[in-house]
Amino acid sequence: MRVLFASSEVFPLVKTGGLADVSGALPAALAESGVDVRILLPGYPDAIKAAGAKKVAGPLGDPFGLGAEAVLLSGKLPDSGVPVWLVDCPALFERAGGPYQDSQGRDWPDNALRFALLSWTAAHLCTEGSPVKWRPQVLHANDWQTGLAPAYLHAWNMPQRPATVFTIHNIAYQGQFPPDMVARLGFPPGMYAMDGLEYYDTLSFLKAGLFYADRISTVSPRYAKEIQSPAFGCGMDGLLTHRAADLSGILNGADYQVWNPAADPHLAHPYALGDAAGKARNKAALQAELGLAPDSEAPLMVIVSRLNDHKGMDLVLAALPNILKLGAQVAVVGTGDKPLEDGFRAAAAAHPTQVAARIGYSESLAHRMMAGGDMLLMPSRFEPCGLTQFYAFRYGTVPVAHATGGLADTLVDSGYDTLMTGKANGFVFEHSNVGAFQWAVERAVGLYARKDQWARIVKACAAQDFSWGRSAALYLDLYKSLAGNGGGKGK
Ligand code: ADP
Ligand code: GLC
Repeated sequence: MRVLFASSEVFPLVKTGGLADVSGALPAALAESGVDVRILLPGYPDAIKAAGAKKVAGPLGDPFGLGAEAVLLSGKLPDSGVPVWLVDCPALFERAGGPYQDSQGRDWPDNALRFALLSWTAAHLCTEGSPVKWRPQVLHANDWQTGLAPAYLHAWNMPQRPATVFTIHNIAYQGQFPPDMVARLGFPPGMYAMDGLEYYDTLSFLKAGLFYADRISTVSPRYAKEIQSPAFGCGMDGLLTHRAADLSGILNGADYQVWNPAADPHLAHPYALGDAAGKARNKAALQAELGLAPDSEAPLMVIVSRLNDHKGMDLVLAALPNILKLGAQVAVVGTGDKPLEDGFRAAAAAHPTQVAARIGYSESLAHRMMAGGDMLLMPSRFEPCGLTQFYAFRYGTVPVAHATGGLADTLVDSGYDTLMTGKANGFVFEHSNVGAFQWAVERAVGLYARKDQWARIVKACAAQDFSWGRSAALYLDLYKSLAGNGGGKGK
């Protein structure tokens, strides 16, 4: 089975969030199960370097008339060795800043061209015009940045084309652009219609993927249901309900090579899964690193997250005074919306021994937070899957989370029954408001003081197994069901 996996970020080449983790680990797991998988991503300079991609695989030309030729580079993922192709087009990708935004947090003004080129290349690699011989049987596109790929394959109306899968990692990001981009990006005017690329008078990359892909998947079964409702569908619920038969939810996995407390290069004191004394050493080290009071009894609540309303970070700030009254400590590593960043900074300044805020992105500190924390706060308003709860489980850190999306699919609230049966692995609240969140935190603090009960919860966390093998097998079934139908049919 030959699969082309297209994504705008891939760990460890470039990462802003969970999409990168998935785009690095899922192809590696697929390769392990014998799939001939290749990754395609934009040629950001750091990613080219990290993939060791010095070799030109072939020319891509200048499909949008930029006056600059793009070329395909080939490299490899550092650990797994999965082959990687990068779209090298310095005019679009060689710049300081993030993959989607400049250093001030403003979207790059030419994002339509940047990610259309990524999508176009993914589709082009499926055609006779491809600069490489290898042709996929399945094209797997991810999130809006690759949404146009299935649309190009449709526009080119090939007698035979690969099957297409489009995975939604977050439906809130849609890639909407002015209608004049339709022609600029090479689509016939007829495709700019309600049954096509058009979404309320804009060109929607996300809708393109949802409309033209043979199958749609998302990253948890619960989110697959949620996005068919107006509350979670972000305007796409109608289309998704219509395509319900082609939509499925496959839970993400965790990369336990990267997230392994026993062999974690970011920790001063690596510890075995379930080793409470080892974890206590990491807690003390984290308190010292962050300038928190060296109090082994104070519950240490950590946050490793983008700071925005999606993640419910406003709820944390609102509940913070009461959380601190419980004697807990709160440590945050994150970046995002300015008012939230400022809110955490101010709280840390006001309570330096109880609150720590590291505003920024640090892969290394993220690992130490997981190792040193007692609880991980995840009050997300919605959460397609969420990966940090998996990492927390592995590090014996208990999630406190809103029952939504992948969090609802992976967490078991600590109640009388679930504690008795040893199934409780977190603290879950149903309604997204400050009171409900606070009550979950209070329950967590209450049980934290009962060491025997807490040990049972931590044990259940450590016993969770979300390795990628199981999820990869489900993707493989999905690919096979499509490729077995003689590939893509076209609409
Ligand atoms: P999302 O993709 O919505 O941000 P996920 O839970 O799926 O949420 O994935 C987030 C990923 O990004 C995790 O690997 C997490 O450790 C990482 N992460 C988020 N914020 C930071 C940060 N400030 N520093 C380091 N890692 C972060
Ligand atoms: C998105 C979602 C997150 C998910 C990740 C990987 O960023 O917000 O819930 O875990 O994608 O699929």
